[in-house]
Amino acid sequence: MKNQLFLFVSLFVLVACQPKDPIEKQIDDLLSQMTLEEKIAQMNQLSGGYYSEDLESAVRAGLGSMLNSVGEETNYYQRIAVEESRLGIPMLFARDVIHGYRTIYPIPLGQAATFDLALVEEAARLTAQESMQAGIRWTFSPMVDISRDPRWGRVAEGYGEDTYLASMMGAATVRGYQGFDSIVQLAACVKHFVGYGVSEGGRDYNTTWIPEIQLRETYLPPFKAALDAGSLSIMCSFNDINGVPSSANKHLNVNILRHEWQYNGVLVSDYASSQNMIAHGNCHDLREATLLSINAQMDMDMENHAYSNHLKELIEEGLVKEQQVDVCVRNILRMKYRLGLFDNPYCAVENPVYYSSESLSAAQRAAEESAVLLKNNGILPLSSTPTILVCGPLAHSQHDQNGTWCFDKVDSATVTPLMAFRELERAGKIRLIEQMGKHWSREVSQSNITQLTRLARQADVVLFFGGEESILSGEARCRAHLNLPGDQSAQLRALKAIGKPVVLTVMAGRPLCIGEDINMVDAVLYAFHGGTMQGPALANLIMGVVSPSGRLPITFPQAVGQIPMYYNKKNSGRPTSNPVLYDDIPVGIEQFSIGADSYWLEYGDKPLYPFGYGLTYTTFEYGPVVLSDTIIDKSAIIASCEITNTGTMDAVAVPQLYIRDLVGSITRPIRELKGFQRVTIPAGESRTVSFEIEEADLAYWHLAQGVDLGADGDYTFSAEPGDFHIWIAPNSAEGQAARFALKK
Ligand code: BGC
Repeated sequence: MKNQLFLFVSLFVLVACQPKDPIEKQIDDLLSQMTLEEKIAQMNQLSGGYYSEDLESAVRAGLGSMLNSVGEETNYYQRIAVEESRLGIPMLFARDVIHGYRTIYPIPLGQAATFDLALVEEAARLTAQESMQAGIRWTFSPMVDISRDPRWGRVAEGYGEDTYLASMMGAATVRGYQGFDSIVQLAACVKHFVGYGVSEGGRDYNTTWIPEIQLRETYLPPFKAALDAGSLSIMCSFNDINGVPSSANKHLNVNILRHEWQYNGVLVSDYASSQNMIAHGNCHDLREATLLSINAQMDMDMENHAYSNHLKELIEEGLVKEQQVDVCVRNILRMKYRLGLFDNPYCAVENPVYYSSESLSAAQRAAEESAVLLKNNGILPLSSTPTILVCGPLAHSQHDQNGTWCFDKVDSATVTPLMAFRELERAGKIRLIEQMGKHWSREVSQSNITQLTRLARQADVVLFFGGEESILSGEARCRAHLNLPGDQSAQLRALKAIGKPVVLTVMAGRPLCIGEDINMVDAVLYAFHGGTMQGPALANLIMGVVSPSGRLPITFPQAVGQIPMYYNKKNSGRPTSNPVLYDDIPVGIEQFSIGADSYWLEYGDKPLYPFGYGLTYTTFEYGPVVLSDTIIDKSAIIASCEITNTGTMDAVAVPQLYIRDLVGSITRPIRELKGFQRVTIPAGESRTVSFEIEEADLAYWHLAQGVDLGADGDYTFSAEPGDFHIWIAPNSAEGQAARFALKK
């Protein structure tokens, strides 16, 4: 006991004697000068994008942040904050810079398809440079919500279905935005905390039910990874989770975020998400929403007008302590100091450099790497000097190929596929026929099809650029059908009927169910919405200047009825190996048995394309997995595999490391991604790739020893001894497993 007391006192003295971080000292000083009203004002974010006297007065009173102002307007309001508010605290200007400011990179789902962390980080770094010139110092990105439901429009904004991939992508994006200097360039805001991608039925803002163990295994890790990468802020989500809206969720925001993870960055509400709690039905009015939000340690109120209207009165009534407010304000001021705003509050509006050659070339490379070749019967890459018909609703849509969430793009700066092919014609590389009849992916017109087939007859090959208009994906844009919109499928059928080779390029914000369309065409490139330079990127891929290297970051279902569908599913007690399908069930025989396995009569248990899938213009042969040891005890083992390029073109292989824990006290997925690489392998050559695996990589949330109930709180995070399968494979459905054991 005496010893314990001594230890405690020594620890206390040690902590107390630590020299205080200079930023914390500055915050102490500022906080001590602030009135309660000024503190509350710091905790508010209002939407700008226009000049108004009301906004000016809010700024004069010490408003903390504005969203949606850019350029000159930021300097206008900032001057009021710095020169006319009592303490001159600069404001923080925020914006949804989701996949580029002016130069637009592929939508995040497309970025995930690159499996290229360095490139994703670079795109974020260049985005930060452009944003800063416009006065934006805080972006509401990355979105790391795992989603396994492509009906959900916001699947476009995230990194797909896999926890590991999303964690790596989110962390790379944070590093890119924030940089490594002591002054952060552009503050990241990882969102939406948490479970938003699980909205029931893929309907945005809908309710979510996520058991604690699944929350911890699947949905929380990408947030933790982004925070570990330094994200200065995090945003609540709109959904209620297990009945409690995120903005008021003490378990998430206090227990996990603040206590377990010790996070002292800014937790901001989503746009009016506290207000939304009234509609959710977990509070009566805005006053109660304010109380719930502050008690859940939400630092900043984005356009709820809750803190500004009710926080003071709640403090005066003794329902909220001023110290609670101090904690929030401290977090907000800390972010401002980390951004160097007190020294440099304004942006240099004159001569901003947008679309630098560095940005454009990164955008083009990202668009090239994000396109996934799903099918190729040998038509690609095109060779000789073909006569090409370029057609389809996305062939020349400078607006739509940029996808969702790019407020600051300039459509005229976007290079479409048609523009890129015109350039090739000027260079004498192809002969071009254009069909420019359609602009909207949802258009239906019979006369257009007649014209299409007439033109197609004059061409050697048809390049059909289809997909979705940008307005069909993103926030609040959920779909119940995942077909190609309008009469695109009819156009493809008509082209098939005249027997011309067709290359289908899909530019969309989500996986679409294109099983039948694929049968109409000779090759399919799934390109997502690829941004400013998608045109030249696609031309390079189609002409074979570069070989496709994108891999699917999300499973492509055959039909909507299979959703949710994801590679790291559990096996079930009755997996299927040889399903009897709908059309194989004889009609008129009553005693026929189809067995009792887990699958869909129409499709078996298979997707259209599995997670991690993607072809290229060469073929790769994966050798067996070679292990440095078949037992992991104290030290790591190395798993290696030789990959040979057996084709005739140099190309990038994307080997993926998967494991399966064969027996767990909680059932384990049939595969889990644990690593990936991109390796360029020249034609005819081989490369050996290696991955290190240690005990920590095998850890998961499972029942604590001696506990067998499986109720919340019974879980612990560690690896359980036993046998594992391991693959180094081209995608989540292929490869030969090796075996190792974990001994403790
Ligand atoms: C979205 C957020 C976004 C915010 C600010 C909300 O509607 O859910 O992702 O950052 O608006 O624009």
